Amino acid sequence: MTDSYLAFANSAIGARLAAALGLPRPVPLERFTAHHPVLQGDVLIAAGPSPHLLPALVQASQVLQLNTVSHQLPAWTAMCNQAGMMTGRWGVGEQPGAPIKALLYDATGLTRIEQADHLYHCLQDTVRSLLPSGRVMLLARSPQACNDVQQATVQRALEGLMRSLAKEVKRGIAVQLIQVDEGAETSLTGCLQFFLSPRSAYVSGQVIRWQCPSTIAPASLPVQWTTDVNQPLAGRRLLVTGASRGIGAAIAQTLARDGARVVCLDVPSSAAALQTVAEQVGGWALPLDITDPQAAQTLVDRARSDGGWDGVVHNAGITRDKTIARMPEHAWRSVTTVNLLSPAVITQTLLDAQVLAADARVVCVSSISGIAGNVGQTNYAFSKAGVIGLVQSMAPAFAARGMAINAVAPGFIETQMTAAIPFAIREAGRRMNAMGQGGLPVDVAETIAWLMSPLSRGVNGQVIRVCGQSWLGA
Ligand SMILES: NC(=O)c1ccc[n+]([C@@H]2O[C@H](COP(=O)([O-])OP(=O)(O)OC[C@H]3O[C@@H](n4cnc5c(N)ncnc54)[C@H](O)[C@@H]3O)[C@@H](O)[C@H]2O)c1
Repeated sequence: MTDSYLAFANSAIGARLAAALGLPRPVPLERFTAHHPVLQGDVLIAAGPSPHLLPALVQASQVLQLNTVSHQLPAWTAMCNQAGMMTGRWGVGEQPGAPIKALLYDATGLTRIEQADHLYHCLQDTVRSLLPSGRVMLLARSPQACNDVQQATVQRALEGLMRSLAKEVKRGIAVQLIQVDEGAETSLTGCLQFFLSPRSAYVSGQVIRWQCPSTIAPASLPVQWTTDVNQPLAGRRLLVTGASRGIGAAIAQTLARDGARVVCLDVPSSAAALQTVAEQVGGWALPLDITDPQAAQTLVDRARSDGGWDGVVHNAGITRDKTIARMPEHAWRSVTTVNLLSPAVITQTLLDAQVLAADARVVCVSSISGIAGNVGQTNYAFSKAGVIGLVQSMAPAFAARGMAINAVAPGFIETQMTAAIPFAIREAGRRMNAMGQGGLPVDVAETIAWLMSPLSRGVNGQVIRVCGQSWLGA
């Protein structure tokens, strides 16, 4: 489904008309192209008082070959430490106000409320210098990890600032708050690789807890993390459910592009389309209904004959919308079974059968309906909120084994599912987010590909919304 308003608003006449009528003007988002740099343009690294992450940020920038202005860092650090605040125009090199593609701000040292003035000055001077599809990443501490009341307060306050900034910046710019645990900075490269790159085009306004790998994966595990940004999934064998079309097909394609061998599963009635996708990605088709009572055992047998799997993406899902007073029992039961019960049973069965690799990763597809709720979707929202409960409650067991389980919550994504929505509701759904447009299946797929890769090793038991910072929900 194409977004004709997006194309119109970016045509010469459409842009003039939109400006004259005060209509929103969403910009086409930059998306990932293989073998391009992680980020094209200059990156400004700034720091508040007593920053803790600067060395890690500089090192990660070098690994990712970013054009940073790191030569200025010692001066900034010194000034910040002395004065606790820095004013004046910030910019790249000697040119204040020169365009920048990304701003990384190390706020880990903010322990008093008034110290946030420094961040205010930095943002005020830099946000207008950000290029379209630019990035702002605030790196901070989790309030839960702070021992001091003022420190926890100011670190929590950053969340409100970040969410508001993400709504203000427009022009396809994405803003995130990354709460980095002490000791977790060593793996920050993988975090920057995703959130700075066009892979995260439709992810904005998110709070991500970046945990110490040792609390996620026991140090004894033979972890071979790669920073090959083009093939981070090389050699991995992954299962994707609901892979014959829509988001599932995009997931299979994206995982394969990143080097994985993909087992593509869908209902037997979609076998022909499933076979086409499997052939396109050089993988295998597995026609199977995940609600079949034998499905979990069938998957265990298949995983064993494959020599084990490195991960599973639970993407298969259905909607049967009706307000609860009018909802027939089969609509309740089918949605909760496909979307929640089957992924829960399959995940536990695969774990118990020990057919998942030592550093396996599981991703479940939730929805912003499961976060915000939606009229006519009590069954769907129950199932999708349940998916969040599933990953949060299973995360410790996964961590104990050196594995990880996370969820993505898509917002409005341009698929057959959303094409079926009546025009007016569809158009509202598309625009009601900070990006002013719907996402593409590949946006969900990119986030999942990252979560399935070793590059996301600091993340477990979390939910990443791929919703362009939808106005619905938190
Ligand atoms: N499209 C959106 O805007 C959107 C938003 C939020 C969440 N989601 C979620 O993303 C996922 C994919 O959505 P989509 O838009 O691509 O939907 P879709 O209907 O195009 O694809 C879903 C796939 O799941 C398969 N499936 C359904 N029941 C199955 C079963 N019992 N066993 C095996 N496969 C089964 C279907 O055959 C289909 O191929 C779903 O979980 C959906 O709830 C989508």
